[in-house]
Amino acid sequence: MVYKKLKRNGLNGPSPSFPLGNINDMVAFKKKRSDSSLSSCLITNTISHDIHSNVVPHLAQWQKSHGKVFIYWLGTEPFLCIADPEFLKKMAAGVLGKSWGKPDVFRNDRKPMFGNGLIMVEGDDWIRHRSVITPAFSPANLKAMGSLMVASTNEMLDRWTSILNSGKKEIEVESEIITTAGEIIAKTSFGMDYENGKKVLHKLRTMQRVLFASNRYVGVPFSKIFCYKKNLEAKRLGDKIDALFLITINDRIKSKEAGGRAGKEKNLLDLMLADKDCRKTLTTRELVDECKTFFFGGHETTALALIWTLLLLALNPEWQNQLREEIKQVIGDQVVDATTIAGLKKMEWVMSESLRLYPSAPNAQRQAKDDIRVGEVVIPKGTNMWIDIVSMNHDRDLWGDTVNDFRPERFEADGVHGGCNSKMGYLPFGFGGRMCIGRNLSAMEYKIVLTLILTRFSFSPSPYYCHSPVVMLSLRPGKGLPLLVQPINN
Ligand code: HEM
Repeated sequence: MVYKKLKRNGLNGPSPSFPLGNINDMVAFKKKRSDSSLSSCLITNTISHDIHSNVVPHLAQWQKSHGKVFIYWLGTEPFLCIADPEFLKKMAAGVLGKSWGKPDVFRNDRKPMFGNGLIMVEGDDWIRHRSVITPAFSPANLKAMGSLMVASTNEMLDRWTSILNSGKKEIEVESEIITTAGEIIAKTSFGMDYENGKKVLHKLRTMQRVLFASNRYVGVPFSKIFCYKKNLEAKRLGDKIDALFLITINDRIKSKEAGGRAGKEKNLLDLMLADKDCRKTLTTRELVDECKTFFFGGHETTALALIWTLLLLALNPEWQNQLREEIKQVIGDQVVDATTIAGLKKMEWVMSESLRLYPSAPNAQRQAKDDIRVGEVVIPKGTNMWIDIVSMNHDRDLWGDTVNDFRPERFEADGVHGGCNSKMGYLPFGFGGRMCIGRNLSAMEYKIVLTLILTRFSFSPSPYYCHSPVVMLSLRPGKGLPLLVQPINN
């Protein structure tokens, strides 16, 4: 029904087959891509940031044949793929946050990971969740989390010193940053101890591999049956994570009732629980889902922003020096905290440019809950949408000839859009009412961690680095990030 209406509106795309839709083509494109990227591992001096056709080869190919707005099929579910920011602007103009849905096929598929947390929830429930959670992310609350971030980062950097003192020159930075970001989110969001935080992190990452590392059959009829083992494993991991969060939440409630933690720093969970007596309260089940959503959404995205930044700074040592100089001037001998890092403007440009070239969230999904008019075109109720952020960030029409170069200075004059030709062309944190709730938290963590790294170490690319960005829900380095690291003698 939806497909026929979209076709009547003149929207086209690759021909689907039943029951897989275009999934076979996607698998074939990906296979071709990974065969060719294997050989490029050996040539580390040819790192290209022109990644669209590498990370989503199927979308890049279909865009060439059908334009920047086209239909493709996941099984029997049609998706409208959008990489035209002006189309997106018109489409989003009249739709409120609460009126956006999320594709049903993903809600089921991602349930063990996000449950019905803020990323997935819709309608009036979304308003209720968002209004309970938003105050927890206020600048004053975030400020209090700075010292925990500094402590976890310093522990990581002390570990790097020990590794280097043992005679090694190379550090596998990806796993180091992911572990530290997991620890930071566990402490700042839930006051979770190190051991439980590690358990959640390990299970979430295993679940991510189970769900997203192999070929996926989302949208294919009866896929639940032939992906039974995989789904069961994801559910089993999801249940274990739920149980860990349930213990944490109940402990918090008990200690709150007993008058504990008075005067201590408040974490996100404490702040959400503070709303207990108000009618907007979340149920314990909903709180568990929000905890999972924060844990996954909060650690991985920020960690990846840092990881890709470290690669880009390793390739561009002059920017490492510029940032070190800025840190000296802005922070000097003061402690690194939420207040002192606020003046690091060049570091903000570097974060924006890194998220442009390597967006942690490489796409956003929506479902139309009502018909949406975009000029002459009507997007019918029920349409699934796939917004291709990687494509827009690498579109020469939007960014000009330097599109694939690392040029943080493009954000100097235009801090929000980086000089992009369209106001909807740069969306690292999403758009409209459903924009990322954690963006200030992540900016603070990014600046604290990067400041401490740059103050103690310099780094360059390892000859063993293999440039192989992959989408596994988020955009990650497929083969890790080894860097050659040297201590700085201040
Ligand atoms: C560099 C770091 C981050 C990036 C690039 C990022 C990116 C995004 C994007 C693109 C969206 C919109 C998704 C959509 O429209 O479908 C989003 C939503 C969201 N993000 Fe983030 N995020 C980051 C950090 C965080 C952190 C630190 C947290 C929490 C601790 C967080 C929690 C969320 C939540 C709960 C939503 C859903 C908001 C809603 O629908 O109302 N994110 N994020």
